[in-house]
Amino acid sequence: MGRAILSSPPFYPILIIGKVPEDLGQRLAQVGPVTYLDRNESLSEDEIIAAACKAHVILTEPPDRITPRVIEACPNLVMIAQRAVGYDNIDLQDCQARPILVSNTPGVLDNATADFAFALLLAAGRRVVEADNYVRSGQWLGFENDLLLGTEMTGSTIGIVGMGRIGSAMARRARGFGMRIVYCRAADSGAQIKDSDIVLDEKDHKWREELGAERMSMTSVLQQSDYVSLHCPHNKQTEKLIGAREFGLMKPNCIFVNTARGKVVDEDALCAAIAGGKIRGAGLDVFYHEPLVSDVLLKAPNVVLAPHIGSASEETRYAMAESAVNAVISAFAGKVPHNALNKEIFERWQEHK
Ligand code: DGY
Repeated sequence: MGRAILSSPPFYPILIIGKVPEDLGQRLAQVGPVTYLDRNESLSEDEIIAAACKAHVILTEPPDRITPRVIEACPNLVMIAQRAVGYDNIDLQDCQARPILVSNTPGVLDNATADFAFALLLAAGRRVVEADNYVRSGQWLGFENDLLLGTEMTGSTIGIVGMGRIGSAMARRARGFGMRIVYCRAADSGAQIKDSDIVLDEKDHKWREELGAERMSMTSVLQQSDYVSLHCPHNKQTEKLIGAREFGLMKPNCIFVNTARGKVVDEDALCAAIAGGKIRGAGLDVFYHEPLVSDVLLKAPNVVLAPHIGSASEETRYAMAESAVNAVISAFAGKVPHNALNKEIFERWQEHK
């Protein structure tokens, strides 16, 4: 791969925002000179523009907002390689028009993210963080029969909202814990959708066979579940998908888990559900105004919080960076990256770049 690139001097300046393992960063030198922009906090549009205005390629992550203004201010930009599966920080529509090729990293983070979602579910259900605090703060005086009682996994029902790669990985974990699995897919949300409207496809039959999982309307999923775990992408259709109506449908003992995107949830409605005791607790890795977290959530002992680390295992974060680097190398060697989000522009892109 890339013979043409290797035999001619690289000339596509690349900006890597955030950290990428050194060996992978070095591989990009066959495409162009690499500059790194490290950050601990989210960058402003102006900061991204200042660093990226000469770049032809940017490697991004979820906090890096590539808005229409950024795109306009970076006239050389021809490719964005996102090191995440979610890409709601990138204005894909404006990228199409330019054209800017955009890739993400599907498939490499399913297990790590499902592991973490299940860890949050267990931590909230069995009150692991409360227990840890209890011991550390010296409150533990001896065994008590009803101390920090939690909820059982085995025999309970988990509701999975969004049964894609990560949702189905979550379902496999739930199966191992002896849980009943119900789920809904994107088309099944909305108050008007009834169970009888749902037409099962091949995947649904496979999941029923493999996991005993039952697809139903989102309304039924929320009404029947002891644990609800979100696994759908954030886009215009899913913005605040879970709001006051949806929390109102959940059982009072429900534990709500979100490792998808904060903006899929109306955080005010979530706070109201927690503060009013409408649900039992929550495990949250993502937030509406990330990294800001609502005060109610920060103070609630029955909410387990994490700083957007769902996919953060060493192996997976390496694989995500590798997937982004491979996408850039493929594209500049004339091969459509398998993980390009707008493959349809590739021919036009090759002429333009
Ligand atoms: C993703 O992949 O979208 C995660 O949120 C970042 O790890």
